[in-house]
Amino acid sequence: MADSQAVTKAVIPAAGLGTRFVPATKAMPKEMLPIIDRPTIQLVVEEAAAAGLTDVLLITGREKTAIVDHFDRNIELEEILEAKGDLAGLDSIRASSLLASMHYVRQGQPLGLGHAVLCAADHVGDAPFAVLLGDDFIDVRDALLPRMLEVRRRYGGSIIALMEVEPEEVSAYGVATIKPTDSDDVVAITDLVEKPAVGDAPSNWIVVGRYVCDPAIFDVLRRTGPGKGGEIQLTDALRTLARTDRGPGDGGGVHGVLFRGRRYDTGNKLEYLKTVIQFACDRPDVAPEFVPWLRGYLASLDPDATG
Ligand code: G1P
Repeated sequence: MADSQAVTKAVIPAAGLGTRFVPATKAMPKEMLPIIDRPTIQLVVEEAAAAGLTDVLLITGREKTAIVDHFDRNIELEEILEAKGDLAGLDSIRASSLLASMHYVRQGQPLGLGHAVLCAADHVGDAPFAVLLGDDFIDVRDALLPRMLEVRRRYGGSIIALMEVEPEEVSAYGVATIKPTDSDDVVAITDLVEKPAVGDAPSNWIVVGRYVCDPAIFDVLRRTGPGKGGEIQLTDALRTLARTDRGPGDGGGVHGVLFRGRRYDTGNKLEYLKTVIQFACDRPDVAPEFVPWLRGYLASLDPDATG
């Protein structure tokens, strides 16, 4: 069913405490940890902007001033860079303030992802919206969010992104029960479970942190009690929408986009490090020197491992 309501708003929950990165996150939000020279939160906002979303609402917790400042102008620094003739630097600090119209709302209590999304209800109103989780990001070249918006236009309802993982990895994620459609990369969702035990999972297709939600999700979230971990789970509300008798015209129905592109995780130290290295190997300004150095360094660790 075609949908005439354009998606213009992105909601980005950023209220986590960052306990996996202490002490770095003692006085700084984890979303400001840089991938080379851009904070992770900027990469997520860039992903939203690249999909044509012009309005970004960040759901923040305490101590998030650095994020708010990052997306604002810094006139003093602009003047200093201008005086030095550092135009590239000037462009780079202006870029983050021009990405989208930024808005902020505080999540008073950390009651879970579903509760964080519910905090967006007043700002979003009665229109479909995207949700991007900050702990991982998708390579913009692989255009996941634009494809999800297309699928929303065709099917209505809510859209989630799915990736196939090894069976032993499923218990860290939401997991979907899926049914094929006439498009290779689109499935209908018949059930969802948040972080099942390995062995109880209905499939190896896990929920990646990108969603296009129908505004019907807000009413469902208001009625959704604590789930896994005692938290209000977005997965549980989507499950209700997937299993309801309501059609897409009433906000029901959930479809999944099967994503096989590049996803980078920054949610824990090891994955964060891998992401930084991958980005460094891909960046034209650092790769020509960094890649040969990395090869040499690895060879020095284990002379038999690399040439
Ligand atoms: C959240 C969601 C989960 C999803 C995951 C993706 O979990 O609750 O369904 O699979 O993000 O990263 P979290 O990682 O916040 O515990």
